[in-house]
Amino acid sequence: MHPQHLQHSSLASLMLDRTVDFSWEQLGYHVKVDDGNGESSMKPLLCNVTGTARGGRVLAIMGPSGAGKTTLMNGIIGRLQVDAEHRLDGCAFLNDTVFSNRYKKLVSYVAQDDIVMGKETPAEALYFSARVRLGLSVEEAQERTEDILTRLRLQKCRDTYLGIPGLIKGVSGGEKKRVNIGNELITNPYVLLLDEPTTGLDSVNALRVGELLRDLAHEEKRTVLCTIHSPSSELFALFDDLLLFAKGHVVYHGPTSDAPDYFASVGYPVPPRTNPSEYFMNLLQLPREELQKLWDAWEAYLASPAAANNLSVLPMGETITTRSELLEKHLADKQGASMLIETVELTKRSMRLFLRDPGSTIGRAVQTIFFAVLVGLFFFGLDKDAQGVQDRAGALFMVMMNNMFMAAMSGLASFPPERAVFLMEQGAEAYSAWAYSAAKSIAELPFQIIFPTIFTCIAYFMMGFVETASAFFAFWIIVVLLANTGYSFGLMCASVFPTAEAAFAAVPLVFMPLSIVAGLFANTDRLDPYWIWLNYLSFPRFAYTALFTNEFGKIGEICGAGNPCPYPSGDFVIRLYGFEDDSWERSAWVLALFTIGFKVIGAFSLWVQGRAKAGNLRFEGRLASRQASPQNRGASPRQADYLPTPATEQEAAPAESKPDEKVATPANQPEASQEEGTHEPIEENEEKAF
Ligand SMILES: Nc1ncnc2c1ncn2[C@@H]1O[C@H](COP(=O)(O)OP(=O)(O)O)[C@@H](O)[C@H]1O
Ligand SMILES: [Mg+2]
Repeated sequence: MHPQHLQHSSLASLMLDRTVDFSWEQLGYHVKVDDGNGESSMKPLLCNVTGTARGGRVLAIMGPSGAGKTTLMNGIIGRLQVDAEHRLDGCAFLNDTVFSNRYKKLVSYVAQDDIVMGKETPAEALYFSARVRLGLSVEEAQERTEDILTRLRLQKCRDTYLGIPGLIKGVSGGEKKRVNIGNELITNPYVLLLDEPTTGLDSVNALRVGELLRDLAHEEKRTVLCTIHSPSSELFALFDDLLLFAKGHVVYHGPTSDAPDYFASVGYPVPPRTNPSEYFMNLLQLPREELQKLWDAWEAYLASPAAANNLSVLPMGETITTRSELLEKHLADKQGASMLIETVELTKRSMRLFLRDPGSTIGRAVQTIFFAVLVGLFFFGLDKDAQGVQDRAGALFMVMMNNMFMAAMSGLASFPPERAVFLMEQGAEAYSAWAYSAAKSIAELPFQIIFPTIFTCIAYFMMGFVETASAFFAFWIIVVLLANTGYSFGLMCASVFPTAEAAFAAVPLVFMPLSIVAGLFANTDRLDPYWIWLNYLSFPRFAYTALFTNEFGKIGEICGAGNPCPYPSGDFVIRLYGFEDDSWERSAWVLALFTIGFKVIGAFSLWVQGRAKAGNLRFEGRLASRQASPQNRGASPRQADYLPTPATEQEAAPAESKPDEKVATPANQPEASQEEGTHEPIEENEEKAF
């Protein structure tokens, strides 16, 4: 580490003191495919991939489209689907410690697509991450945000929207990529994986991202892995190590500078005046038979003495631990935020995005006023006679349908635009899905009170319902509760269904039958006995009976003396409709329970989806079945920690701190008899990069 780096970077706090090697061993991934004749077979997407991304260096995984680069990355961080039709084999390690869920936070992943909230700014996005993912105090989070903004040269665009291509104008592609890298960097990870970070960027921006990655590795001692698709020669020159990949097999893995020699030794010398990266890319697209030769050559190389000098492919050491002091120490600074901070920050973000998107709020306001006036005009000045009874029953039904639908639609529309961001953040385990659901409800609550209130104030008096304070406030409470039930129902559908279209189709499908049994169209007795259960599921029914019993329970006498009419009193009407067992208070409680139920189901569904997205590292369980392979036997053990050493010092870096727990596995047992002293010391020129 050069002292000047510490001086001119304000990120001294974000430096690592040790580098960590990230290794994978005999990684295989097979998926079941149908061969067209009704027979299925397991198609390999990754074949026995073994290698190491060395600490403090940039490893570029290069290969044509469809080579399996993304699959490899997702495989080593546990984000591949694993079930009866998808099989993942192999192990991954951080130094000599198995990479388990416990250490997941030490490894960050930047996906290929830049998924962002379009109307957030880089400064807000980074601050949010610092608060939520690290639980930093407000001042610390601000400081960390400024650090990252400066470090990634984002100060210029700190307050510009991130944008969504084609929809919201925002920062440039390169800036957006750097924000996403910053978002991961904020947690100070040991290992940073990036899937095609330069794809879609022009050569200048691509080079900038490349230089950033190099600095992250060389200056901050991180382990950087990125997949890359046809880099320019300047970009190519920034990579310390190279992993060439074709159809799921390794073709070369080692220092970039050694690649030409290796290919010359297997009969594919880089022609003069040719850009090596282009030549390698061409090699990787050779037909399968040619590739087979390259794959065989690589296997032969691994078994040869030459491989012992290639630090990228050294087999794992004898002892594999499940805990490491070094990693534990680093993990201690990464306790995430409390549920409270998460909820507060998520609520703030939701509110912020609401305010920046006034369109939907204005739309809802216009809708509310329009329908209130429309219903009000249609049922203007209801009479207190036989005709009035029918009109009142119809008016109350319209009030119920209107408020329920409007609220459900806004609930439906509120999640799909955030789904991608939510899932990405769940993948990074940024916050709990429960906090997200709670925040969404809190942020939306004011609107679900204001709009029904506006509706009630306009419609109630236009229609001329019972003019007592108790009747009015009960009506208002019911409409507010109903709006919240409707909103929660819409949000639940939006969370449960995988697409917005399905959710939008489902809501009317459910609402219609439930509304038919609300009690206006058919007397409750019609439903006995086979359909009676619908009564209990129909929350529109509870809303309607609440409105109905409130109005008719308080209306008193309907037809005065000497005015013969079939409805003597409100209570008579309630009995006539079959609502005599209902009361508005009880129905209101039931609506509240429905609201809570829908919220819990929606939150649970988000939690399940979030869990699936976060993946599950099962490497620990596979330790016992690690297979002894030729590469695992007889070779030198790997150095646990490659501390960059000045060029003058030739001794190896100090070994890693004492592991707490050791696990003997079949793979390392054959080596147990070997003595430490017989292993070759590491004399590679690993300081080259510095
Ligand atoms: N779950 C899966 N089932 C079947 N095929 C898959 C699955 N995932 C990826 N593939 C296939 O595996 C190959 C490698 O995909 P990928 O890793 O995305 O390639 P790259 O990132 O190198 O372009 C592709 O041909 C892709 O179609
Ligand atoms: Mg890919």
